[in-house]
Amino acid sequence: MKKIILRYLWLFVFVATTSFSQNIQTTFSPDKNIQLHTKIDADGRFLYEVIYKNRIIIEPSSLGFKLNKPNVSLRYFEWMAHFESTKDEIWSPVLGEVKSIKNHYNELIIKLKDKQNPQYLLNIIFRVFNDGIGFRYEFPQNQALKHLIIGEELTEFNLSGNHKAFWIPGDYDTNEYLYNTSKLSDINAIKAAKAETDIALQSIIGENTVQSPLMMKTDDGIYLNIHEAALINYPVMHLDLDKKSFTLSSHLVPDAVGNKAYLQAPCTSPWRTIVVSDKATDILASKLILNLNEPSKIKDISWIKPQKFIGMWWEMHVGKATWQKEGGKHGANTANVKTYIDFAAQHGFDGVLVEGWNEGWEDWFGNWKENVFDFVTPYSDYHLEYLTQYAQSKGVKLIMHHETSGSATNYERHLDKAFELMKKYGMNTVKTGYVGKIIPRGEHHDSQWMVNHYERVAEKAASYQIMVEAHEPAHPTGLHRTYPNWLANEAARGNEFNNAPHLGLVPEHETILPFTRLMGGPMDYTPGFFHFRLNQYDSTRTTRVKTTLAKQLALYVTMYSPLQMAGDFPENFEKHLDAFQFIKDVAVDWDDTKVLEAEPGDFVTIARKAKNSNDWYLGAITDENARTSSIKLDFLDNDSVYEALIYQDGTTADWHTNPESYVIIRKNLKKNDLLTLTLAKGGGCAISLKKLK
Ligand code: NOJ
Ligand code: CA
Repeated sequence: MKKIILRYLWLFVFVATTSFSQNIQTTFSPDKNIQLHTKIDADGRFLYEVIYKNRIIIEPSSLGFKLNKPNVSLRYFEWMAHFESTKDEIWSPVLGEVKSIKNHYNELIIKLKDKQNPQYLLNIIFRVFNDGIGFRYEFPQNQALKHLIIGEELTEFNLSGNHKAFWIPGDYDTNEYLYNTSKLSDINAIKAAKAETDIALQSIIGENTVQSPLMMKTDDGIYLNIHEAALINYPVMHLDLDKKSFTLSSHLVPDAVGNKAYLQAPCTSPWRTIVVSDKATDILASKLILNLNEPSKIKDISWIKPQKFIGMWWEMHVGKATWQKEGGKHGANTANVKTYIDFAAQHGFDGVLVEGWNEGWEDWFGNWKENVFDFVTPYSDYHLEYLTQYAQSKGVKLIMHHETSGSATNYERHLDKAFELMKKYGMNTVKTGYVGKIIPRGEHHDSQWMVNHYERVAEKAASYQIMVEAHEPAHPTGLHRTYPNWLANEAARGNEFNNAPHLGLVPEHETILPFTRLMGGPMDYTPGFFHFRLNQYDSTRTTRVKTTLAKQLALYVTMYSPLQMAGDFPENFEKHLDAFQFIKDVAVDWDDTKVLEAEPGDFVTIARKAKNSNDWYLGAITDENARTSSIKLDFLDNDSVYEALIYQDGTTADWHTNPESYVIIRKNLKKNDLLTLTLAKGGGCAISLKKLK
C-alpha cells in the first residue's frame, strides 16, 4: 500500500512542478518502454525513479556520498544544469556471443552542487537503454574536492515490492557461493554463509547484505537485474537490504583501514546497472553492461584468440595426483604432462594447462606467507624446455598457471620476469589465482587495491601479448570489452565445487549463473566432467558430479566463454569418445546467439552460430526436474538442410541414479522443424547443427 501511495504522490509532484522547474527531468528509452524520472526534492535530496511499461521498477531513490576526506556528506544538492543527448551506434566485440552490438541510449547528465558547501561539485550521468538503465557519478575537475576518500557511496535502489531474489551472501573476499532463492524478506545472509563450510576464506558482511549481480523477479513477472559495469579504480559494490522498505543501498568494500576508495578528481565511479524486461530471455541477451564499458584499449588484437584446453588439474582435485612434489604423487612431471600434450594434439585442443609445475606448493596454503612462489622456478621433475618443444612439435601450447596464494604484492614484484619466462617458452595464456587471504596489506579480494591489481595484471599481460583468466578475482563487470585479452574469470562457484564435501553444487546452479555471475562476463566454469563419482582415486570421498553427462556437454553452449576447458582427465574422456566429440566440435567464439527459453533456477536453452561458419550449436539444461520442450528452429537459414547430432539424456538418465546414460541421434533438420528436447532430472541436451552444402 505504501508503495502505491508513494507512486501517485510522485506523479503528482512531477506533473505539478515540471512546467516551472528545471529541477526535474524525464528521460525515455529509445523504444519509450522505460522512463527515468530525476529531481531534487524539497530537502535537496537528488532522487531518481524508473518505470518500465507503466510499472514502477525503482521507486524514488536517493544518491550521494559520505566522504571521509574531506569529512562531509554529499546528500543535499542544488541542480545547476543538465544536458541530454542520444547515441546510436554499432560496434563489434573482439570475441563474443554476437558479431555486432547495438549501443543505443538517451543520456542525461545532471550537474549538482552541494547545498551546504556549494564549492563541492558532483555530476550524475544516466543512460537509458531499451533493456535498462545505467548511471554513474562524476567528480568533475574541482579545486575544493581534488583528493577525496570515500567513506561510503549512498546509492539507493528502492524496489517496488518483496520480489523473488536469487542471491548469495555479501562477502568481501569470495563470491564462490551457492545461490539462494527466496523473497527479499527472507534473505538471511549470515545463516546462508555459515552453512557454506567448504569455502576457504569468508568475510561475511551482515544479515541483509548480498552480492551483485542480484537477479530478481517481481510478483507480476518482471525480471530485474542489479549490478555494476566498468569497475575500475574503485571497490566492489555489495548491497544492503532494508527489509521494511525493500531498499537496497550500496555497500562498498573497505580497505585494510576501513576506507572505501581513494580518488583524484576528475574521476568517475563505475556504472550502476539495472537490466529489466518482462522476458527472462531478454535479461540473458542484454548487452547493457558491455555497452557501458570502454572500447578495447588494445589496438593490435591479432594475437587474441579464443581457445579450448585440457589440463593437468582435475587429477589433483580428486586425489589422483598432487600439486606439490613432496609425497611422490606429483602430477606435473614431464612424462605425465607429455600424455596430456599427446591427448590435446590428438583431439585438436589448443592448450594444456599445467598446475603444480613450479616450486612452492609444499607451503602454498594456509600459512599466509608472502614469498611462496616466484613464478619462474620449475620443479626439478618438470622439464619446461623439453615440454615446450614437444608441445610446439604437436601444435599445442602450454597454458601457464600463476597461483599467487593471495600474495598479490609478491606477484606484482615478479610479474615482468614471470611474463618474460612465458614469452621465452612460447606461452600466450595464463590462469591466475588468489586463494587465501590477501597479503601482506590485509586487503580484501573485492577492495579498490585488488580491483586495481587485477586490472594491472590484465594490462601488463597485454603488453606481453598474453591472455589472462583469473580465479578468485572480484566479480566481473564487462571489462573484457576494454581488455579483450582478459578472456574469462572464475569469480563464482565453478564446476570444481562438485568435489566439495558438503553443499558442493546443486542441479539448479547452472540455470542461475547466466542470470547472475555471467551478466558481468565470461566464466571459466570448467565443464566437461565425464566421471561422476569422485572416489575413483580416493575411496573415502563421497562427492559426485550433480548433472548428467549430456548436461556437461550442454554447458559449453549455455555458459558463454571464449576460453573453455574440458575439465576431466584423458582416461575419463576415453571412456566416452562419442560424447567427447561434441566438446571437440563446439565453437568458443560466435557470430550470433539466440536465447530460446530461460527461467532463472529452472532452465536455459541457447542456440549459437559459430564464428565465420554456417554451423549452429544448441545447449539446453534443466534443474533437478525433468523437462520436455519444443524448440522452433527458425534461426536456421531458409531452404537449407542441417545435419544434427543430438546428444541427449538416455531414457533412464537421472543426475542422481544414472548420470552416464546418454544417446546420440543423427538426423537432418530444417528451418521450420519443431524439435522436441527431452531432459532428465539434472539433465541437458547438446546439439551440433552442420549446414549441408
Ligand atoms: C582454485 C582454483 O579455482 C582451481 O582451479 C585451482 O586448481 C586451485 N585454486 C589451485 O590453484
Ligand atoms: Ca528450480
